[in-house]
Amino acid sequence: MGKVHVFDHPLIQHKLTFIRKADTGTKEFRELVNELATLMAFEITRDLPTQEITIQTPVCEAKSRILAGKKLGIVPILRAGIGMVDGIIDLIPAAKVGHVGLFRDPETLKPVEYFVKLPSDVSEREFIVVDPMLATGGTAVEAINSMKKRGAVNIKFMCLVAAPEGVEVLTKAHPDVDVYIAALDEKLDEHGYIVPGLGDAGDRLFGTK
Ligand code: URA
Repeated sequence: MGKVHVFDHPLIQHKLTFIRKADTGTKEFRELVNELATLMAFEITRDLPTQEITIQTPVCEAKSRILAGKKLGIVPILRAGIGMVDGIIDLIPAAKVGHVGLFRDPETLKPVEYFVKLPSDVSEREFIVVDPMLATGGTAVEAINSMKKRGAVNIKFMCLVAAPEGVEVLTKAHPDVDVYIAALDEKLDEHGYIVPGLGDAGDRLFGTK
């Protein structure tokens, strides 16, 4: 079963409070989502392998460590996931960015893919799939299905706010995928919104309504 990590770092909790507030405007919301994505990426990359190299400092020759060249990929689920990409790229500029877009079939109510573009060396990359909200889990499960169908084998899922229902659905469907969350909320309401949540993440990021 995939591990579920809830980040309780004070900076993450602080910024999360401000994106929850209904009177936080689009500009501040967008900035905070990116800052949260940076902080979470910092935690998620804690286990990246490093290698020792020899360098010359102004004082002497020294042994020091650099990343061991693991290939990373960030995959935002359209559209709200896009709001987290820049914050991660700030920290990991060499990461490639794929995209997965899904819509809900009005008859079956199931998510159906309409756009998938991943780096060509998909099986060699470690992917971080990002979406600010993990609500029912249906979209996250289908996005990861789409990636696995194309050869992705090493996937982590990162979101800001999750409902327990979504965490259960995702970890059951993809037990190999670790899930990273800034806040695990109470529940879903009858419209599929996370409670207390932050409303519609896409609308708040892009100023639509
Ligand atoms: N998607 C959102 O943007 N917000 C929710 O609360 C649930 C799903």
